[in-house]
Amino acid sequence: MAAQHTGQIGREAGGHEKIETSNFLMIVLILLAVAVGGIVEIVPLFFQRSTTQPVEGLKPYTALQLVGRDVYVREGCYNCHSQMVRPFRAEALRYGSLSVAGEFVYDHPFQWGSKRTGPDLHRVGGRYSDEWHRVHLINPRDLVPESNMPAYPWLASANVDPASVAPRMKALRRLGVPYSDDEVAKAAEEVKSRTELDALVAYLQVLGTARK
Ligand code: HEC
Repeated sequence: MAAQHTGQIGREAGGHEKIETSNFLMIVLILLAVAVGGIVEIVPLFFQRSTTQPVEGLKPYTALQLVGRDVYVREGCYNCHSQMVRPFRAEALRYGSLSVAGEFVYDHPFQWGSKRTGPDLHRVGGRYSDEWHRVHLINPRDLVPESNMPAYPWLASANVDPASVAPRMKALRRLGVPYSDDEVAKAAEEVKSRTELDALVAYLQVLGTARK
């Protein structure tokens, strides 16, 4: 009875049975469908001004901020913090104005994230003093007793390697970040005898400040 039924459907649907019983055909056609769907959704974004043009007032990270960003990535802060204020009233009330694509055009890669064990950090720039961040990063419990954020005390004694910064800026320049030769040349000087903690705090303090 069941077999008879299947056969009937196969006959009615024509080519369908051929596709669904051939692994090869199925894989090729799925890939084709996904590719077309992807192209239709993704390609227009490359040509949309709002996603490719920096918002007014957005500046590339300074040498020190850039090092701080790399520390942020290295330490995996994104595992607990997003940088994306979503367009909901509750988010705006808690974090500030919603994030827009043009604020991230110099971020390679962006740190939007999707895990919020801790609060969103996109609008954290300027919310606390540098000193608050230093104490908090060395031991979060000193300021927020119930915090489960890890402590990062080693950042205070790790010096930034000045020679490492210019190559990072040049790499970003190839991706379209408009660093001038002058900025690249002065990078080493800017981070000389600064610690990774200085750099991370400088980075946190500029987050989300282009559009507040
Ligand atoms: C295991 C999860 C976790 C990781 C990893 C983590 N944090 Fe946090 N973070 C939290 C939690 C939870 C809070 C809220 C309690 C507090 O303020 O300590 C927080 C709070 C913060 C705040 C204060 C935000 C605000 O609006 O009050 C900052 C800034 C911050 N974290 C930065 C960082 C940085 C930078 C790193 C990486 C070096 C990091 N965090 C890594 C969980 C985490």
